[in-house]
Amino acid sequence: MPYNLRNRSFLKLLDFSKRDLNHLLNLARDLKRAKYGGYEVQRLRGKNIALIFEKPSTRTRCAFEIAAYDQGANVTYLDPAGSHLGRKESIKDTARVLGRMYHAIEYRGSSQRVAEELAKWSGVPVFNGLTDEFHPTQMAADLMTMREHAPKPWHDISYCYLGDGRSNMGNSLLIAGCLMGMDVRIAAPRSLWPDEEHLDPARRLAEMYKARLTLTEDPLEGVRGVDFIHTDVWLSMGEPPEYWEQRIELLRGYQVNAGLMAASGNERVRFMHCLPAFHNLDTDVAREIHARFGLEAMEVTDEVFESPAAIQFEQAENRVHSIKALLVATLGS
Ligand code: CP
Ligand code: NVA
Repeated sequence: MPYNLRNRSFLKLLDFSKRDLNHLLNLARDLKRAKYGGYEVQRLRGKNIALIFEKPSTRTRCAFEIAAYDQGANVTYLDPAGSHLGRKESIKDTARVLGRMYHAIEYRGSSQRVAEELAKWSGVPVFNGLTDEFHPTQMAADLMTMREHAPKPWHDISYCYLGDGRSNMGNSLLIAGCLMGMDVRIAAPRSLWPDEEHLDPARRLAEMYKARLTLTEDPLEGVRGVDFIHTDVWLSMGEPPEYWEQRIELLRGYQVNAGLMAASGNERVRFMHCLPAFHNLDTDVAREIHARFGLEAMEVTDEVFESPAAIQFEQAENRVHSIKALLVATLGS
């Protein structure tokens, strides 16, 4: 039997084993080559996929759509304004309707529980396109990108995530590296370290896969010797704007700037960010924060973001190839 992930949901990283992820990432690499080489074969013809977005998205929505179109599938985009989900119709009922019309469902929203309920009642694979707790499809792209830039065994690859360790990205980068047996560091003030609920499985995975897991309040210790420095916005979608002041206070010492990149001691260190990023004053939110707190940039300086060490746009592109691999592996002919 060929190895496959047929009809599997991807609600959180731990739905997949290390072996499953390796299979997915190898497929993503092959699909990327096929697209570049002009020899991609469509394996999703006749498949219909519902894309539910209760929160805004640029990359995830576009990546799902492009991946589906490249492979011959059709998509329907549903946003909160244009559907009854959760307001006039329960998740359970919506799931049972969509499950009769679609071969799979992507869901982005606050609640991990909603993603799980959709999977339970629809009877078709459900893919988590981001909840407050996890961002698993982003992890597939991040792992793919790290492997492209550090072509060595997983256990020799190290990274540090600086920022809100309790966010979807903090939790996901914690688990992803431990599952793949990597050298994982989380640098954040103690009050923003991941919850025990996520640390506990991470520690167990680390032991099982011989990963090294470090939590530190010291950003310099966190980045020492690493291959990759990851960060994310200091306030995630859905968090109240009143939190900005406290979050800036807690995280301003964890900004990724030229000094921090140099503190890695690794000339080839690379910068990664799931995006969108506050690296200059070109957005409304950044200008508001600048007016209130005087910050020119938040989690990353423009200097680092625009430097040759920054690979965030390759990471963004890899959302397409890795999501395509997920669709092909779970639904493909
Ligand atoms: N990284 C990410 O999920 O981006 P979007 O919010 O644009 O989908
Ligand atoms: N932590 C961020 C990730 C965005 C892709 C958020 O949830 O807003």
